[in-house]
Amino acid sequence: MINRDDLELIAVARESRGHAYAPYSGYRVGAAVRGRDGRIWAGCNIENVSFGLTICAERVALGKMVSEGCRDMDRVALYTMDGSVPCGSCLQAMREFAGDPDRVLVFLAGETGPPRVLSLAELLPYGFDSEVVKAVSVK
Ligand code: THU
Repeated sequence: MINRDDLELIAVARESRGHAYAPYSGYRVGAAVRGRDGRIWAGCNIENVSFGLTICAERVALGKMVSEGCRDMDRVALYTMDGSVPCGSCLQAMREFAGDPDRVLVFLAGETGPPRVLSLAELLPYGFDSEVVKAVSVK
């Protein structure tokens, strides 16, 4: 189920975790997003002494993707010590650029054991739908 491209994506997330700035929690996270155009963007968590300013690894990678002209996410890999799931805020941020959430796969890799693979729809079954807002917003 995990192909060579997916392994590359996980390797990029693992490498990016090495850049994590997490002096307060000590919990380092690496992320990698693949766009539908095949390009890959990496991200790591960046903490701040004003804790609420901390940015998760996934949103760093997503921001890089969008700022470089891609708005269509294909796959995401996360690398943590324990293969944990993304937080709810990051799942909603991913949904914004996911198209069909059933189609977007998320690889959850950790220091031990094989990576888990879940779709974005499995991780966020009741995500907030942008169509709801577009239907009422002022034109
Ligand atoms: N973190 C992420 O980077 N991604 C997530 O999805 C959850 C949490 C970071 C934020 C903080 O730096 C550390 O993990 C502990 O919460």
